[in-house]
Amino acid sequence: MEKQLALFLLLCSLSYLVLAFAENITLESKKYWDMREEEAKKRTVEAYHPQPFNVTNHLNFRARILQSKWLESDVGTNGTRRVLAKKYRKGCMFANPIDACWRCQPDWEKKRRRLAKCALGFGKGTTGGKAGRKYLVTDPSDDDMLNPKPGTLRHAVIQNQPLWIVFGKPIMRIKLKQEVIMTSHKTIDGRGSHVIIEGGAGITIQFVENIIIHGIKFRNIVPRPGGLIRDSLTHFGLRTPSDGDAISIFGSHHIWIDHCSFSRCYDGLIDVIKGSTAITISNCHMTDHDKVSLVTQW
Ligand SMILES: *[C@@H]1O[C@H](CO)[C@@H](O)[C@H](O)[C@H]1NC(C)=O
Ligand SMILES: *[C@@H]1O[C@H](CO)[C@@H](O)[C@H](O)[C@H]1NC(C)=O
Ligand SMILES: *[C@@H]1O[C@H](CO)[C@@H](O)[C@H](O)[C@H]1NC(C)=O
Repeated sequence: MEKQLALFLLLCSLSYLVLAFAENITLESKKYWDMREEEAKKRTVEAYHPQPFNVTNHLNFRARILQSKWLESDVGTNGTRRVLAKKYRKGCMFANPIDACWRCQPDWEKKRRRLAKCALGFGKGTTGGKAGRKYLVTDPSDDDMLNPKPGTLRHAVIQNQPLWIVFGKPIMRIKLKQEVIMTSHKTIDGRGSHVIIEGGAGITIQFVENIIIHGIKFRNIVPRPGGLIRDSLTHFGLRTPSDGDAISIFGSHHIWIDHCSFSRCYDGLIDVIKGSTAITISNCHMTDHDKVSLVTQW
């Protein structure tokens, strides 16, 4: 009898400890994100452009210059047109000032960082991981939320320093167990490889700055339950369930999403909320998504 009582008491105190720990970590996580939000708010207010028409005018101006070059070459009879037409067929879109910035350069693969000067619109000036070294993602797995394996996307995006993240295999299908939480000054550059993030969680860009995501395909992103997730080298915490957005931008600024495709996500395709500003979403393909009918279908 006494033994049973002792066991019971032991169990009680153990579960108390577990509960106390859970409460502590919930509290700690809340405090941490409140602090991050406070800091982010100041930076987003500074990043906000007070005259939005200046921004759109600038983009239109750049588009018009290219267009007139194209038209000029059209009337020329000295062969310029043929040269341009050849380039156009190779995928150099002259009416598209963002693409014209890098696509026509045959050595783009060796000089990937040139992309960093190509953002136009509100996200102009976004340079991502331009200042950092290259990080090669070679491992599509996503098994450890607290200590992600080197070579995985999750490991790449939590590093402190700026990084230009590229992919080492021709096809990489990545199923994220939980949301991937990014740190500032990163480029995720899918060019030259077929990178598909599908069937799991999406990417969270929360209270950070200066991120480029280029050439990634997002498919069938679904809600995930949350739990303990590392968000930087120095911190992990308890996350509530993720909604099933491909990309969630939350209180962040200078984000450029270019040449990505999105389809069939449970919640949104790209969420831009909580005072996020200075963001360009360009040349993206968004299909098979209708929030209302999806909700009734699923
Ligand atoms: C919870 O936090 C308090 C103060 O931060 C600490 O004294 C206590 O040991 C913690 N409890 C557990 C179970 O981690
Ligand atoms: C917006 O454009 C006007 C006219 O060109 C200029 O005078 C003004 O300084 C610009 N404002 C900003 C914030 O760039
Ligand atoms: C060809 O045409 C372009 C545009 O009209 C012009 O700028 C260029 O000088 C011409 N070149 C020659 C060799 O005539």
